[in-house]
Amino acid sequence: MSPDEAARNLNPIPEVRVSSPSLFANPWARRARATAVPLVSAGLAAVLVGTLNGGATPVVQESFSSVSGVSSAVQVESVAYNTAVAAAAAAKPKVAVIGTGGTIAGVAQSRSSFTNYSAGRIPIASMVQQLQPEIGNVADVSTVQFGNAGSGGYTIAQFHALTLAVENALKTADGVVVTTGTDTMEEFAYWLDLTVQSRKPVVLTGAMRPWAAGTIDGPQVIGADGPANLYNAITLAASQTTYCFGTVLMLNDEFHAARDVTKGNTTRMDTFETRRMGSLGWIDGDYIKVGRAPARVAKCDTPSEWLTPFNLSTKPASALPRVEIVYNYQQAGGEAITAFANAGVKGIVTAGTGAGGISSAQSAARSAAANAGVVFISTSRVGSGSVTGGSGNIIAGDDLLAQKARLFLLLGLTFAPGDAAKIRGWMDTIGQAEWKVTPPSAIETGFADLATRIAELSTAGTINGSTTELLTDRLARAKSAYESADFAGAGTYLQNFIDRAKQRVDDEAARTALVDLATSLKNEISAASPAAKTVTG
Ligand code: SIN
Repeated sequence: MSPDEAARNLNPIPEVRVSSPSLFANPWARRARATAVPLVSAGLAAVLVGTLNGGATPVVQESFSSVSGVSSAVQVESVAYNTAVAAAAAAKPKVAVIGTGGTIAGVAQSRSSFTNYSAGRIPIASMVQQLQPEIGNVADVSTVQFGNAGSGGYTIAQFHALTLAVENALKTADGVVVTTGTDTMEEFAYWLDLTVQSRKPVVLTGAMRPWAAGTIDGPQVIGADGPANLYNAITLAASQTTYCFGTVLMLNDEFHAARDVTKGNTTRMDTFETRRMGSLGWIDGDYIKVGRAPARVAKCDTPSEWLTPFNLSTKPASALPRVEIVYNYQQAGGEAITAFANAGVKGIVTAGTGAGGISSAQSAARSAAANAGVVFISTSRVGSGSVTGGSGNIIAGDDLLAQKARLFLLLGLTFAPGDAAKIRGWMDTIGQAEWKVTPPSAIETGFADLATRIAELSTAGTINGSTTELLTDRLARAKSAYESADFAGAGTYLQNFIDRAKQRVDDEAARTALVDLATSLKNEISAASPAAKTVTG
């Protein structure tokens, strides 16, 4: 079965647009009504929603609300980010909600039955419909029923299909909300964070209390957190506040980075926490506050660098290898590691004590399995703090929790089978809590400065068209040589640049500036490469 077929099999209920607001009181909402191209007509949507909702008549929408403010403790200096946020404020955004089940879609025995319920029962279209009319004024919401089950029942092949479903929804939607059970929501979130090939917001949400009592369209459970969580998640996605943040998890009015968040309590509604670092921000009513942003945002304007290498559209689900977790404890035996290795498992994550320690029996079994080609990531069962070191087929997982490291290793082994060195490199960059965002090197800055100076001199008419073309060409050739690690070639092209600038630029100040910048860039490249030192002017 192809991934597309797998995804279709998991989507038994067709996509339905549930928002068709009839009254708009603000200018962008009026514009949105004029330009929206519904996937199905409002009337048909009403019929479909009514059917999914047990025949209930859709609510007539007569009011609106939208985000009143976004305040940020961080300044995101990105054209793409600011464009997305401005677009969300100017025209009503489209948000697709993908339902997978969990407690949020649960039906309890009675309105006060908080812990006795059946999860994954209510269709997502029905839940979104119950947020109308208010949510229709925040976003134009469509729904996809990916599945309706407890979170723990999903397979890695279904995770693969979910990534493709999210990417498919993002072809038309401005943001996606995925509802899941909370038990493994952090794994759903990190998987999507690592795999979705889009900078648009992806927000995970769910609930700690079931939605309805008695039947799927019964009265709401007392104090049900699902409706507010779903409303807030759609609001957050619509606002574009987390554009380029990667996947975030939103529950109990707080949103967290997918990599770092974990479920910290079996029953409390504030169960999700990001130990040591704290949440990314929160929603108070219709006011969104960003306290901190993942450093990955800094790559927002260069999508090729922002995106991960884990593009699942290039791999069938069958390419995903088995990766398992082994827990360490007093006098832990090594048999589990040996058995996994003998069963053909390609990667194993150890959840060690303290800073990653494992028993001597586990250590011996690990050495044997690593020598046989199994790749390990070493993590800690403590729940926060770094694990460092590692060599060969044993990679240190830093502060990744074991269940997240397992997904990371699984994807690493999919895209670099058996290549521990490559996976270690990914761990050191995209595997980090806040992606390593390396400031531009002196050489990169040198190339950028020269290009800017040529453009300025050309615009001012200080250098003519043919000189601009010639210098731009030499600079581009030098850059391309440098990027291919041809340091000698880069030096030669830069020397040619210097010679031409001396010959052709009449204005003394301009000539000096170009020659100085090119000379210093040439020296930087020479210093970076011993081989380049042999290049002479
Ligand atoms: C589940 O994870 O599916 C059940 C628990 C929950 O949703 O909170």
